[in-house]
Amino acid sequence: MSAHLPAHTSSTGGSPAPRRVRVHHLAEAKARGEKLTMLTAYDAVTARIFDGAGIDMLLVGDSIGNTMHGHATTLPVTVDDMIPAARGVARATRRALVVVDLPFGSYEAGPEQALATGVRILKETGAHAVKIEGGKRVAAQIRALTDAGIPVVGHLGFTPQSENLLGGPRVQGRGDDAAEVLSEDAVAVAEAGAVALVLEMVPVEVAARVTEILRIPTIGIGAGVQCDGQVLVWTDLAGMTEWSPRFAKRFAEIGTALGQAVADYAAEVRDGSFPDDDHSFAQ
Ligand code: KIV
Repeated sequence: MSAHLPAHTSSTGGSPAPRRVRVHHLAEAKARGEKLTMLTAYDAVTARIFDGAGIDMLLVGDSIGNTMHGHATTLPVTVDDMIPAARGVARATRRALVVVDLPFGSYEAGPEQALATGVRILKETGAHAVKIEGGKRVAAQIRALTDAGIPVVGHLGFTPQSENLLGGPRVQGRGDDAAEVLSEDAVAVAEAGAVALVLEMVPVEVAARVTEILRIPTIGIGAGVQCDGQVLVWTDLAGMTEWSPRFAKRFAEIGTALGQAVADYAAEVRDGSFPDDDHSFAQ
């Protein structure tokens, strides 16, 4: 009988460090039918909160381009953008497995380029794994990274780095042929050594089939409940944006609450009620 995922505590301070989620826990969780949780994080402040809440894997996604850097796509994101973000996330977590996206242009040229990028990211950030978009076309990169001791998470379905080729954010794997190609890519990614596979915007039935044929866990985003786990972009989950994609449930409206707090602060500064005696020092 395999061990359960390491326990998490709700507190982030004072208590002894929880055990780290490791790659072997992922397949073990799948074998037991225990769902895995993944969430994006781009800095230490939010990573500490998400880790304390018990998220199993934190993804320093190249969605940092859209969510934090104001780009329209993930394409402009560089390795130099990813490294400080990943450092902050890795330093702030005690339990979560930290996965970092290899950004567009940092691995496609071949296994050597992927290896150089993966080594740099792990060496300079303290993260534990990397994520690569693509199927058969990046199997050699996944193999090279894995052989060098760097765990890889795959990513199939809608792969945002290829959005120009795919015609924007669209459901992938619809129709028998497309579903077959996606399944073959999933098998290639797993056989190359990936430890988990993100499935983005894939029909429920196709994701369920891929989940059934793989021993590594599938982590869905817009891919239905039968995946072995789920991932969301935290700004969608928390309602930080005006608009969220259909598959991204808004579990809170933190953006509205934050806007109200900032407006209250500005009003109190303007009318002289802040800072009051409680927030000032006497001589
Ligand atoms: O960059 C990212 O946030 C991602 C998720 C959408 C899985 O790749």
